[in-house]
Amino acid sequence: MKRIFVLVMLFAAADVKYRQTVMKSMGAHMTAMSLVVKKEVAMRSQLGAHAEAIHALSATIPEMFPAPDKVRSSAKPEIWTHFDEFKSLSARLERESATLSQLAAKRDWKSFDAQFARVAKTCEDCHDKFRVQD
Ligand code: HEC
Repeated sequence: MKRIFVLVMLFAAADVKYRQTVMKSMGAHMTAMSLVVKKEVAMRSQLGAHAEAIHALSATIPEMFPAPDKVRSSAKPEIWTHFDEFKSLSARLERESATLSQLAAKRDWKSFDAQFARVAKTCEDCHDKFRVQD
């Protein structure tokens, strides 16, 4: 019995670690793009790849939150009481990052830089509502 409990906790911890790692990877893509948008770096050629990575991952964010956490995490319990709102913020990220990726393909950098701010705001809006602030 005790052994089964430990196993369940290990799986639960791995799920949270996985999800936090995916979030961190999106954070790294955003940081890389921000250096280009702020014109500190001239790597416009990789912007499409960063935008596409975020777009590809955004579609499945709700799947990483199947049920209230059994281990410590920064996910607020409101995720599961307001799951429709959580899913719609995730869908918003999917739309905004699709636009970002299209603008990179068109090499429309002026619009890209403005759209980058909208994507960042979408991350922030979900974190403000559903992530425990440290
Ligand atoms: C639909 C809601 C939602 C969206 C959209 C979202 N996040 Fe998150 N994010 C969360 C939640 C909830 C957590 C806390 C997860 C946990 O602790 O298990 C989190 C955690 C994180 C973390 C911390 C991971 C860690 O090390 O613990 C980073 C970094 C992050 N998100 C980046 C981003 C970026 C960048 C975007 C936008 C491109 C984004 N997130 C979009 C909900 C969201």
